[in-house]
Amino acid sequence: MAPWSSSSRGRRVCCCVLIGLGVLVLGAAVTAGIRRWLQPSGHKQWEGAGTTAHISEIFLGRCFTYTQIIHPELRDKNCQKIWNAFKNSFISKDTCNITEEDYQPLIKLTTQTLPCNQTLFWSKTNVLVHRYTKAQKELFTLEDTLLGYMADDLIWCGSSGNSEMNYQSCPSRMENCSNSPVFVFWKTVSKKFAEAACGVVHVMLNGSISRAFVRNSIFGSIEVMNLHQERVHSLRAWVMHDIGGDFSDSCSGSSINDLRSIMREKNIPFTCQDDYKPVRYIQCVSHPEHSSCP
Ligand SMILES: *[C@@H]1O[C@H](CO)[C@@H](O)[C@H](O)[C@H]1NC(C)=O
Ligand SMILES: *[C@@H]1O[C@H](CO)[C@@H](O)[C@H](O)[C@H]1NC(C)=O
Ligand SMILES: *[C@@H]1O[C@H](CO)[C@@H](O)[C@H](O)[C@H]1NC(C)=O
Repeated sequence: MAPWSSSSRGRRVCCCVLIGLGVLVLGAAVTAGIRRWLQPSGHKQWEGAGTTAHISEIFLGRCFTYTQIIHPELRDKNCQKIWNAFKNSFISKDTCNITEEDYQPLIKLTTQTLPCNQTLFWSKTNVLVHRYTKAQKELFTLEDTLLGYMADDLIWCGSSGNSEMNYQSCPSRMENCSNSPVFVFWKTVSKKFAEAACGVVHVMLNGSISRAFVRNSIFGSIEVMNLHQERVHSLRAWVMHDIGGDFSDSCSGSSINDLRSIMREKNIPFTCQDDYKPVRYIQCVSHPEHSSCP
C-alpha cells in the first residue's frame, strides 16, 4: 500500500469523526438551549426565593417536636401523613390557582381545639408577640398551633405537570399570583384560627409604626372579618411601643378608632391598652436600664 493512500484514508476517517463530533456537540447545545429557554428544571421562573431547602426534614422535624415534646397531648398525630397531605395540597398543581379546598385534607389531619380566652392575634409585632407567648403559655398565636408552627417562615411551591417542588423560585408578593401556595395557606389557616376563636380574644399591635391597625393586613382583612360575634366575648388590643422608639400610633389614634368601629358593627365589645405591662416586662429584658422599665 502506498504511503499516500493510507494517509488519505486516515484524513477521511479523521474528517468523519470530526463532523460526527461537531453534530453531537451542536445537538447537545441546541437541546440544552431549548430546555433552558423553556424553563430550568421544568418549572416556571418566579421572582421570589424558591422552596426552602430541606423542607421535608424541617417540616417533619417540627411536626415531631410539636406533637411529641411541646404538646404531647397531640402525640397520636401522624406526622408522615401530615407531610404527605401538605405536599399533595400544591404538588403538580397550577402555582397561581391554589384554593382553600386544596388545604382541607391537611387541615383535617391537624385539628387542634384551643380553649376559650387563649387566642392572640398580632400584626407587625412578630418578634415581640412570640417572645411573649414563649413566656406566657396560656396564649396561642397561629404560629403556636401545630399548623402554624410547622409552616412558619417556610416557602414552598410546585407547578402543574411536575411532581417536584420548585427549589429555584416561587411567586413573590409583588407578582400577579395572589393564589400562590404560601399565600393561600396563611389565608386559609388564619381564617380557621379566627373562626375558632372564643371568649376574650387578644391582639398585639405595633404603635411604633404610622398605623397600628390597617385593614389590608391579614389581621385586618381576614382575622377580624372571621370573628364570630356569638363566640367572641370581647376583643382586647394591646398597642406596644418600642423602648426608646417612636410613639407614632396608640389606642387614641385614628387607626385604632377604625378597628373600634369595625368591632362596633360586628357587635363585639372592644378595649384597647397602650403598652400592656406583662408584655412591657418582656421588652424590658433587653433594656433593663431604660427609664420606662421597673
Ligand atoms: C383554578 O382551578 C379551579 C379548580 O381547580 C378551576 O375550576 C379554574 O378554572 C382554575 N382557574 C384558572 C384561572 O386556571
Ligand atoms: C374567659 O374570660 C372571661 C372574662 O375574663 C371569664 O368570665 C370566663 O370565665 C373565661 N373563660 C374561660 C374558659 O376561662
Ligand atoms: C414595630 O415595627 C417596626 C418596623 O417594622 C419594628 O422594627 C419593631 O420591632 C416593631 N415593634 C414591635 C413592638 O413589635
